[in-house]
Amino acid sequence: MCLLITNIKQLCQVELSSENKKKVSGKDMAVLPSIDNAWLLVEGELIHSFGEMATMPEMQADEIIDATGRLVLPTWCDSHTHLVFAAPRDGEFVNRLKGVSYEEIARQGGGILNSARKLNEMSESELHDQSLVRLHNVIGQGTGAIEIKSGYGLCEEGELKMLRVIRKLKENSPVAIKASFLAAHAYPVEYKENKEGYIKLIIEKMLPRVAGEGLADYMDMFCEQGFFGVPECERLMEAGWKYGLKPKIHANQLHFSGGVQAGVKHKAISVDHLECVGDEEIASLMASETMPTLLPGAAFFLGMHYQPARKIIDAGLPVCLATDYNPGSCPSGNVPLLLSISCTQLKMTPEETINAVTLNGAAAMELEGTYGTIKAGKVANLIITKPIPSLSYIPYDYGNGNVDKVVLKGKWA
Ligand code: NIG
Ligand code: FE
Repeated sequence: MCLLITNIKQLCQVELSSENKKKVSGKDMAVLPSIDNAWLLVEGELIHSFGEMATMPEMQADEIIDATGRLVLPTWCDSHTHLVFAAPRDGEFVNRLKGVSYEEIARQGGGILNSARKLNEMSESELHDQSLVRLHNVIGQGTGAIEIKSGYGLCEEGELKMLRVIRKLKENSPVAIKASFLAAHAYPVEYKENKEGYIKLIIEKMLPRVAGEGLADYMDMFCEQGFFGVPECERLMEAGWKYGLKPKIHANQLHFSGGVQAGVKHKAISVDHLECVGDEEIASLMASETMPTLLPGAAFFLGMHYQPARKIIDAGLPVCLATDYNPGSCPSGNVPLLLSISCTQLKMTPEETINAVTLNGAAAMELEGTYGTIKAGKVANLIITKPIPSLSYIPYDYGNGNVDKVVLKGKWA
C-alpha cells in the first residue's frame, strides 16, 4: 500500500543525513529535529520520502490522509517491559499503601514469587491471549517496538512457557518485539536455601535450552540486595554471552548495588532502573556504550525517589526511558503518561523525553537502524496525534491520550 500524509503540522524526529544516527546524548537530547507543514509518503512497509508541503512533488497514492493540525512522530520504542504476566497484584498495592514496603512484601513471599505462582498455574494459550490484549492496548497508545521479559516462571518449564508466549506474540503482531531471559528475577522458594543450585539451573539447564530454541535476544537479571548479588550477576552475564545473549540488566533500583558498574564491565546493552545513581555510576557509564535506561513509572508507583535524569544528561550521557510495564511496580505500559512523569518529576524537557523513548529506546533494543526516527528506508511505524497545539502538549495533557492513529509496517494498527 502507498499512503500519503499531507499538511502535517509538525513532522517530529526526522533524520535527514544519510549516516545512521545511533543515539542522542547530553545537550543534543534537548533538540528534536522536525519539519513544520510537512508531507510523508509510505510505500509498502517503509518510509519512502518526506519534506515540506511547499515543495511536495506530484505523487500517486492508494490513500491520502489530511493531517491538518496534527503531529506525526515515530512510534514509541519501549525497551523494558514485563508485559507477559498472569494476574494483577492489587492486593499488594493496598498493603503498600498501608505502609508495608515493596521489599518486605517480597521477603514475605509476595511480589515476584506471587506472580510466579499465578503464572505457573496458567496455560500457555491463556497467558498468550491475555498478553495479546495488553499488547494491543499499548499499540493504541503509540508503542511500535517493545522488549518483553520472562522472569515470572522461575523454573525451567515456566520460563520457557513465557518465552514461547513472547515468540507467539511476535508471530501474531506487527509490532517489533525483543525477548529477554530473566530467570534471575528472584530465587524460587525451593532454592531459598540453595541459591547456588538455582544459579546452576539457570546456567547449565535453562540457558542452553533458551538459546537452542532461539527464544531470547538478551540475558537479564535483578542485580539487587536481597535478590542477585554482583558476583552471581557477573557469572550469569558471562554465561549469557557464551550463548550469544547480550546483557540488559535491572540495576540500582533499591540500593547502590554495583549493578551499573557490573553491567558496564560486561558490555550490557543497557542498565535499567537507576533510581540510585551517583558520581561513580556516571563515571562508569561515561566510559561505555551501555545505555542508561530510566523507569520512572516504577518510582512513581512505588512512591520512591526518582532517577537523577538531569545529572545523567548534564554529564553528557544519553538517557532512555521505558515503562517497566509489570503487575508489581508499574502496572501501566502507557508511554504518554511516562513522558508526563518524566517531565514533571525528572525535570526532563518534552523534547528530551521524546528522544529518550524513540531513538534511544530503539538503541536499547539494537533497533536504531530500522526504528526510532522518521528516515527514508526505515520501517513506517508512525503516530498521528489528534489536533494539538504543540509537541509539549503531549506530556502536558497528562492522562488524556492524544495518540489518534497508529501505523505499523505501513498499515493501520
Ligand atoms: O523492573 N525490579 C524487578 N523487577 C520488576 C518488577 C517485578 C515485580 O514486582 O513483579 C521491575 O520493577
Ligand atoms: Fe523491570
